[in-house]
Amino acid sequence: MKKILLSGVKPTGRPHIGNYFGAMKQFVDLLNSGNYDCYFFLADYHALNFIQNREEMARNILDLTIDYMAIGLDPNKATLFKQSDVSAHTELSCIFDTLVTMPYLQRAHAYKDAQAKNVEINVGTFNYPVLMAADILLYNTDVVPVGQDQKQHVEYARDIAQKFNNVFGETFKLPEPLILEHVATVPGTDGQKMSKSYNNTIPLFATRDEIIKAVMGIVTDSGSDVPANVYAIHKLFRPESDLKTLYGANKGKYKALKEALIEDIDAFVKPLRERRAEIAKGENTVNKVLQRGGSNACLIASTKLIEIKQKIGVL
Ligand code: ADP
Ligand code: TRP
Repeated sequence: MKKILLSGVKPTGRPHIGNYFGAMKQFVDLLNSGNYDCYFFLADYHALNFIQNREEMARNILDLTIDYMAIGLDPNKATLFKQSDVSAHTELSCIFDTLVTMPYLQRAHAYKDAQAKNVEINVGTFNYPVLMAADILLYNTDVVPVGQDQKQHVEYARDIAQKFNNVFGETFKLPEPLILEHVATVPGTDGQKMSKSYNNTIPLFATRDEIIKAVMGIVTDSGSDVPANVYAIHKLFRPESDLKTLYGANKGKYKALKEALIEDIDAFVKPLRERRAEIAKGENTVNKVLQRGGSNACLIASTKLIEIKQKIGVL
């Protein structure tokens, strides 16, 4: 029996190289290892907390599906689906709501950040970890490849599984996060964590001009021989043994180093960009992939939901 692997990304805009090296590249490598039954989904109900615009949501869903396929998630080898196509996710989330307390959810990073900034938080964001636990636990998931920022959420899923098992009897496996240490938090062009919300990203499918603009905008700390923020991104694209020679020969020459980084990123991104453009021509095929994945996921999830309903006594 293969282990079960599941992960998701929110359709909230173009993925960046932090998403790719922190999480999405692992999706592809682990799928290709042949050791896992893989489920990759689009967390569109999670995205609804951020995108409340019909056209933008629809566009983002199509785009992220194309992105998934372009990085190498073969829909014939893995189940690709969207969360909203499998209503068992929201139904299980509702069941979990009855087991989870408010103080427990108040300890979540996203909630604490909102508190610290004194901004209002909607119930969807407050409940985010509960829906995510449902996403994971419905599929008897063993492993969840993610970046470091999602570790706490996977721990919430484990806690919720344990709580349910204690109350209603053994029902859920406890999932493990899979986080690659050297890319757990990929830095952005300003040295902070790369994130769509910080305006410091290099898009994964960037055009050459976008790559040039982003790299030229990397914040450099004048005075040092090696521009730390440039180097930190460069080591994603070239072995450190090569970089030692390159940076050794170009001490303090920030422009030359940035130009070298542009070439390396562009060489890496170009084939991805081209594959993406090819896939994007077949919108119908992409929609069919989601339909097929949704039906497949529904079969697994609805069987699990029956077991859960029996355990809680409503069936
Ligand atoms: P963002 O923070 O840009 O909105 P998402 O929340 O959509 O990114 O994250 C999608 C996946 O990418 C998650 O598994 C997340 O942990 C991972 N990820 C996001 N940013 C980074 C980063 N800077 N370094 C490593 N992994 C990341
Ligand atoms: N919270 C994840 C993110 O922001 C997206 C997500 C939703 C997810 N449900 C999941 C990831 C289940 C892994 C497993 O990136």
